[in-house]
Amino acid sequence: MIYLDNAATSFPKPSEVYRAMDEFFRERAANPGRAGYRLSMEAEREIEMTRKALAEFFGARDTQRLVFTLNATDAINMAIKGLLKPGDHVITTYLEHNAVTRPLNSLEKQGVITISRVRPSPQGFIGPGDIEKAVTPKTRLIAIVHASNVLGTVQPLRAIGQLARERDLIFLIDAAQSAGLWPINVEEQCIDLLAFTGHKALFGPPGTGGLYVSERVELRPWREGGTGVDSQNPVQPKEMPYRLEGGTPNFVGLVGLKAGVEFVSRMGIHNIQRHGQGLIHHLFHCLEDDKRFILYGPPSTENRSPILSLNINGMEPQVVGTILDESFGIAVRSGLHCAPGTHRETGSFPQGTLRISTGFFNTEDDIAQVALALKEIASSERVTA
Ligand code: ALA
Repeated sequence: MIYLDNAATSFPKPSEVYRAMDEFFRERAANPGRAGYRLSMEAEREIEMTRKALAEFFGARDTQRLVFTLNATDAINMAIKGLLKPGDHVITTYLEHNAVTRPLNSLEKQGVITISRVRPSPQGFIGPGDIEKAVTPKTRLIAIVHASNVLGTVQPLRAIGQLARERDLIFLIDAAQSAGLWPINVEEQCIDLLAFTGHKALFGPPGTGGLYVSERVELRPWREGGTGVDSQNPVQPKEMPYRLEGGTPNFVGLVGLKAGVEFVSRMGIHNIQRHGQGLIHHLFHCLEDDKRFILYGPPSTENRSPILSLNINGMEPQVVGTILDESFGIAVRSGLHCAPGTHRETGSFPQGTLRISTGFFNTEDDIAQVALALKEIASSERVTA
């Protein structure tokens, strides 16, 4: 099996991730911070080390403002539903994943907020000037995806962050695809709310993720419950991270996430990125001159995550995906990738695309094989148009 669906989840994980989780789960997995016995306090220390590792990884000064969540969707909901109030205006883009569009659309439908949606360039980039033009006196939030999960295009965070800061707006980033692949520094890029998942390029397990909340923002908690501290308080404590962390966290998963972040730091984010971009560059060059293929996104790997969306003329992407799986043992994701707006912009709606997303453990040979398989499928009599 050749796995090329790393934008959905990275697989496999580095062996140290499996090892760390297995050892912790078997030997030390007491509920962290809920009791005074040594095993519980040790588990708490592990979790706080994970928090510190992530805060440092994203350049956050205050470790306690890094809140654990179940995934990026959970973090984005926490940010949007904890921040916005009636009358607020939000600027977002047509490149967003449903994790951003659905919570915003739902508040818009309820009449709570208004939204301006910024168009990307034909290649999938957002211009800071277009964001700036959309600002109104009621704008409270700019919510954008860092790296598109369909096109891989990476947006200029620093420029948009600076304009948000100059206008006293809150800047929310969906870093589901970028955390672990692109350097993120919440201070330098003026990010107020950074939502990320653990199970993609940070190599953690599913059910882990987080939200960084800057000192400029106070969120209403949307999940309230036990925190292990301030238990006599009838409502959620004000103190971070407890304010936003009701309930037992996925502490076994967080131990794995820490091992994943350490792996990224050890390998070097730029090396990981270069490897992925090299593979996508190779694939692009195998297919770009072949008129049977439609390739989406920019023609180069600059400012692009290791993702290539494509279609074979005359074939449904789902059909191609099934043939790749069943006849060639190659796993890719086809369809709309929970980002219908992006497909509308690129002209691939409603059928979507076949998305090839490489990971750290893919090789040049994997790419050569997928390119060959695609050419064979494109030559087959199944092609109707
Ligand atoms: N959001 C994930 C993807 O793009 C699941 O496939």
